[in-house]
Amino acid sequence: MEKGSLLYEGKAKKLYKTNDSSVLWVEYKDEATAFNGEKKEKVSGKGSLTNIISSELFAYLRRQGVQSHFIEQVSPTEQLIKPLSMIPLEVVVRFVAAGSLSKRLGIPEGEIFPQPIIEFYYKNDELGDPLLTEDHLEYLELLSPKEYAKVKVEAIIIFKYLQKLCDQSGLQLIDGKLEFGRTEDGSIMLGDEISPDTCRFWRKGTKERLDKDVFRLGTGDMVSVYEEFYQTIKGVSAHV
Ligand code: C5P
Repeated sequence: MEKGSLLYEGKAKKLYKTNDSSVLWVEYKDEATAFNGEKKEKVSGKGSLTNIISSELFAYLRRQGVQSHFIEQVSPTEQLIKPLSMIPLEVVVRFVAAGSLSKRLGIPEGEIFPQPIIEFYYKNDELGDPLLTEDHLEYLELLSPKEYAKVKVEAIIIFKYLQKLCDQSGLQLIDGKLEFGRTEDGSIMLGDEISPDTCRFWRKGTKERLDKDVFRLGTGDMVSVYEEFYQTIKGVSAHV
């Protein structure tokens, strides 16, 4: 497999063509951003940790029968994926109150929801990623009602598997974000990344955060916290 020309550069990743049209090459960057890009820093070692963790979590999901764009990790900072036409949506599932939901609805951080709460955000930097209703999704032709129902079920299944993994490792999955895309035949498939950049993880019984909140809030060193997350779920060091 050969890395080809650059197709796209985002905040955290670069996407390249390969010599095989059914495979893309992703490179995770040492770039940390928060608050819609307002806070931005180069964080050495972050790209390899998010790549290693995301590869690990997608491989775990594959073992549970979840199909995704992930093919394989090819270097500390790179992985191969299947091309998807990404839907500009962030599908957020919340098990415990935190972050923007606590702020918006005045619910104290740490309150456990009886049922997971699902939210859809429009991935649009100019508009500030607004929250969407089911009607908005249909009007904007982002998801049909049938697809909306399917994505909701799929997102819950994925996070239940991640919750199980966290539970075994002494972690509590607080919330997380998924992104989906369409394959050539039009079916919807999980894409993007799953890591402490895109989910909140607390040590069980405490509010010790092993996720991007340490960067957002400026309360800790992102790289050592992500390394600690990897070590906690995997039992070995990421060696980065
Ligand atoms: O900020 P908020 O509380 O809405 O975030 C909910 C979850 O979605 C968190 O786990 C956060 O890391 C993730 N998220 C993300 N990318 C965004 C917004 C939120 O990964 N642009």
